[in-house]
Amino acid sequence: MNNIKEYVQEHKDRFINELIELLKIPSVSADAAFSKDVIATSEAVKTSLEKAGCKIVEICETPGYPIVYGEHIIDKNLPTVLVYGHYDVQPPDPLDLWTSPPFEPVIKKTEIHPEGAIFARGSCDDKGQMYMHVKAFEYMIANKNLPCNVKFMIEGEEEVGSKSLSWFVERNQEKLSCDVILISDTGMISNQQPSITTGLRGLSYVEVEVTSANRDLHSGLYGGAVANPINVLCKMIASLHDENNHITIPSFYDNVEELSTEQRAEMAKAPFNLENYKKALDLNDVYGEKGYVTNERNSIRPTLDVNGIWGGYTGEGAKTVIAGQAFAKISMRLVPNQDWETITELFKKHFESIAPSGVKVKVKPHHGGQGYVTPTDSIGYKAANKAYTETFGVPAIPVRSGGSIPIVALFEKELKSKTILMGFGLDSDAIHSPNEHFGIFNYLKGIETIPLFYKYFVELSK
Ligand code: BES
Ligand code: MN
Ligand code: MN
Repeated sequence: MNNIKEYVQEHKDRFINELIELLKIPSVSADAAFSKDVIATSEAVKTSLEKAGCKIVEICETPGYPIVYGEHIIDKNLPTVLVYGHYDVQPPDPLDLWTSPPFEPVIKKTEIHPEGAIFARGSCDDKGQMYMHVKAFEYMIANKNLPCNVKFMIEGEEEVGSKSLSWFVERNQEKLSCDVILISDTGMISNQQPSITTGLRGLSYVEVEVTSANRDLHSGLYGGAVANPINVLCKMIASLHDENNHITIPSFYDNVEELSTEQRAEMAKAPFNLENYKKALDLNDVYGEKGYVTNERNSIRPTLDVNGIWGGYTGEGAKTVIAGQAFAKISMRLVPNQDWETITELFKKHFESIAPSGVKVKVKPHHGGQGYVTPTDSIGYKAANKAYTETFGVPAIPVRSGGSIPIVALFEKELKSKTILMGFGLDSDAIHSPNEHFGIFNYLKGIETIPLFYKYFVELSK
């Protein structure tokens, strides 16, 4: 019988080539122009699970994009691992900033990935990380050492809010019942220092619209006499933070959990170099909420950020005009105990209340979700830590991430199961950005580590 290290060595070229094929399909869920490709990707994922030896694989139709569901039950008395991932990807724009086309994957060496990384949209988030699970499963089947039952649930709408998945989970609690949920859709500290994500932030995403006159106006004839929606919007947005970068929305911090001095000291132990951080991003200085360091600002503290702002004339040259309307898209990252729907309401109420009488304001909620924290004393956490310790030679460090996977909190509510976030990406892999990539080292290490999670999860469950 092959061990996993040997199996990966023997099959790594095929593993890489299969992922490259999957990455060629532009499964952009946000843009309807790609809907055929999104559906084609779900078919490709289904085929890959079948080929890996999964007994039952089905495409589950939803009001939106389909969910690929797989099931391999070997013994009802053994534990069941539910693997979740997503086959959809973020839009690739701006295209001109890619050094190679986003859906023509190529392997390039980088300083952080000397053994090469696959450059393509979705390579890290999340096709590459999802596919590690398919290959780890293939190994366990081929070598007859799958120690428990497995269910796969791979969705196609994660990047747009997982609406159909919520619909699916609420209707299929029995089908999805499991002992632990395993997800690789986060990151780790570095290729030398693995980490396990123990927290995710929640999210509230809103769009705002500020209107003054019923048409665009000559900025000489009307300027100074009517409200300029862009000026007003900027002023309103600026007022949402005070001089300490605290968010000014009343009651916004009501349920925010303050970490103890001990917890913060524990967090500070994770390796982090501020100089390297600034250098990598070409920053003169970092910026954020007073009283917190960078690693706290981007994980345990809530935020409010404008993601996009538009209005008026942005074409070539100059046009003297006061736009009738101005818009912005705003995201708030939330921490556990902050309820996203309450926060959305608080935002709406506050934003409307600060509008001067010369304008009309509309707040349109987009989507959101709750944050998540998971304990480090569970069987799942311990199994993951043992697996990492074996493949990396050092134990994993628990890290609370700033990103969001809103469906994780819903899994806990609907399926009553804890999630283990075993991510193998790096922050520098440029997910959601041009030149997204995933290290070959990370991809293969993931495939090596996952079967050990299964092994230890079953051992520790006995
Ligand atoms: N995989 C990411 C989330 C992530 C990345 C968490 C790295 C932790 C570390 C996921 O695909 C994502 O992008 N989530 C969105 C939220 C979603 C509702 C659109 C996010 O965090 O912006
Ligand atoms: Mn993702
Ligand atoms: Mn993403």
